[in-house]
Amino acid sequence: MDNRPIGMFDSGVGGLTVLKEFQNMFPNENIIYYGDTKSFPYGNKSKENIINLSKKGIDFLLNKNVKAIIIACGTATSQALDLVSKLYSIPIFGIIEPTVSYIVNKSSLKRIGILGTRGTIKSNAFENNLLIAKPNLDIISKACPLLAPIAEEGLIDSDIAKLAVHEYMKDLHDVDALILGCTHYPLFTELFKNEILPTTEIINTGITLSNYLYSNLNKDLFNNSNNCGNVEIYLTDTECNFLDIARKFLNINTYKVNFFPVFS
Ligand code: DGL
Repeated sequence: MDNRPIGMFDSGVGGLTVLKEFQNMFPNENIIYYGDTKSFPYGNKSKENIINLSKKGIDFLLNKNVKAIIIACGTATSQALDLVSKLYSIPIFGIIEPTVSYIVNKSSLKRIGILGTRGTIKSNAFENNLLIAKPNLDIISKACPLLAPIAEEGLIDSDIAKLAVHEYMKDLHDVDALILGCTHYPLFTELFKNEILPTTEIINTGITLSNYLYSNLNKDLFNNSNNCGNVEIYLTDTECNFLDIARKFLNINTYKVNFFPVFS
C-alpha cells in the first residue's frame, strides 16, 4: 500500500478526460494534476520543446512526492515518453501502449482510424506500434489541429466544433475503431458518434490506460485506503477557461478538488 499521490500532466483540460476515467477505476487514489496552460498547445510544438516541457512537468510532480506519473497527453506520450522513462526512475505511463495493446488483442478491429495533434500524427507513434504488433492492420491517420483549441475555448458542442469534426472525419467513416489519440478529443465524443457507423468503436485512451494500469501497475503502489481520493490541480497560467470547462464537462464538482496557480 502506498498513499502517495499519482501525478498526471497535460497541456490543459484534455488530461482531465484521463483523470475522470482513472478516478472511476481507482477512486481512492490522490491525484496531483499539472495543466501546462501557459504552454498550450503542445500539438504544434517541436519534439525538443515537448521533451523539455514534459521534463518540467515531471520535475514539478516529483517535487509533490508522487509515486508514479501518467502522461495524460498524446503529444507528450508520442514524443517524450521513450526518453523520459529512461531518465527518471519513477514509473511513467503514457496513453499509447495501453491503447495499442487493447486494439491488437481484439481480432475484430482491422481497419483503424487514428486522430491526434500534428505532433502525434507526425511522430507515427500509434501507427508504428500498432503495425509492429499486427502488420496487417489497415490504418488511416489524421491530424486535427483545431480540436484541442476549440475544446480549450469551451466550444464543445458548437457549430464550429461540428464543422471541424465533420471535416476531419471525411475519410474515416467506415473504420472498425477510432482512436481518440489526443486526450482533448473525448470531449467531442457525441460529435464523433454522428460521423461513424454504429459498429465503430470509439477508443477513449483514458479508459484503455486505466484498464491497463489496473492489470499492470504494481499492486504495492495501490492506495488501499477506504477514503475517496483528493485531486489537486496546478495550472501554469490562470488566464484560461480551464475551471469553467472542467466544472461543466467533467463534473469535477463531485470530487474534492483544489486549484493552485504555478507561475514559472
Ligand atoms: N491533450 C494533448 C494531447 O493529447 C495536447 C493537445 C495540445 O496541447 O495541442 O495531445
